[in-house]
Formats: sequence, C-alpha cells, structure tokens
Amino acid sequence: MSTTERGAGRFISFEGVDGAGKTTQTALLADWLRDRGFDVVVAVEPGGTPVGEQIRAILLDKRNSELAPEAELLLYFASRAQNVARVIRPALARGAIVLSDRYTDSTIAYQAYGRGLGEPVVRELHRLACGDLWPDLTLLLDLDPDIGLQRALQRGVLNRMDEQARDFRRRVREAYRQLADREPERFRVIDAAGEIAQVAAEVQTAVLAFLGL
Ligand code: TYD
Repeated sequence: MSTTERGAGRFISFEGVDGAGKTTQTALLADWLRDRGFDVVVAVEPGGTPVGEQIRAILLDKRNSELAPEAELLLYFASRAQNVARVIRPALARGAIVLSDRYTDSTIAYQAYGRGLGEPVVRELHRLACGDLWPDLTLLLDLDPDIGLQRALQRGVLNRMDEQARDFRRRVREAYRQLADREPERFRVIDAAGEIAQVAAEVQTAVLAFLGL
C-alpha cells in the first residue's frame, strides 16, 4: 500500500512464540520512541479495542477447549479487522508510528501452520479484514518454544493457547523463521534468549536503521 493511501505513518509489528517477550519489548520501544518525540500508538492482538477485548476473552479462556480451529481463525481476524479499522488506520493516517504486539504473521504461524489450516485461507481472510495493510517492519523475537513455555509457566499466566502440544509450538517457530526467510526486507530476526536490556538494544538498532536515523 502506498503512503498516500494510508498516510505518512510507519507500521511496526512484533512477532514470536509465547514467552518470547513481545509485550515487554513493545512497551519498552514505545517509551523509547516517545522519549525521542515520536507519536506512538500501541495496538494489541487479539484485543486493543473494546470489541477486541471481548473476543480476546473468548480466545484465551481455558474453558473454551472445544473451540473449532476455523472458529478460532475467524475470531482472530474479527479482532484484527476491528483493530485495523478503529486503531491502526486512523493512527497511520495522522502520521503516527504504530507498534503492533502481533499481527497477521501470528495467524500464519499459529493457525495456518500450527493448526494446519494452510496459508491461502489466512491470506484470503487478511484481504477481507485488513486490505493490503502489512507492517513496514516486523521484529521477530526468535526463541526456542520450550524456553518460552518455561517463562510463561514462571509468570503463572498460562492461557488456552499456551496449553498446546510441543509439536504445535515447534511448527509455529519454524513457520515464523520461514516467513522471515521469505521476506528479508520486512523481517528482522532478533535472538530473544538474552536479557531484556540486550534484546531491547537490538530492537532499537533495528528501528533506528529502519527510520533512517
Ligand atoms: P498474546 O496476547 O501475544 O499472548 P502472550 O502475551 O502470552 O504471548 O497472544 C495470545 C495467544 O494468541 C498466543 O498464544 C498466540 C495466539 N495467537 C494466535 O494463535 N493467532 C493470532 O492471530 C494471534 C494474534 C495470536
């Protein structure tokens, strides 16, 4: 999508397996950019809008173990469609930097490959929900999913998605790495096994280069 169609803003997404530290790094980058005078909007997936938060509650509720993969897929896109229309596009139109904690690459990794629903249907739904809006830069926090699960266990915040089998988590990580290989100009792969400050420094270096600063 050209900048004239969607405004002068920049769209950056964070991706990675559960426990990779996306939420922490999104918040740190938002503060860091704001300290430098940028107008920053943080979008959260699933969630980010009142409707999105209601959808998030369904998706992460452990009682919903019978949720069909197709229903799950559509709920993620329902939340995203709302986020794109109400948060992301308006922010880009006014020239803000949008940081999204997950976006459609999550759905490709988790639903297309983790669940095995395949990439074509996910890309088709993306067109309906998001048009041709893709991030300008995607920061993939790459981590062994077993380490990610240990971190989530330590935090004591396991949700419905965290309880998926080991095979599922491995497919998700592999899918992310393949997406990054396929689109090297959009993706930066960052080793998320290190300390928070070290990962944050790598994120900042990538963003500075992207912004041409
Ligand atoms: P998230 O809120 O990022 O959880 P956490 O902060 O614990 O990493 O995401 C919630 C879960 O939803 C996570 O397990 C990944 C999953 N998910 C999908 O399966 N598909 C999607 O399209 C998105 C956005 C998330």
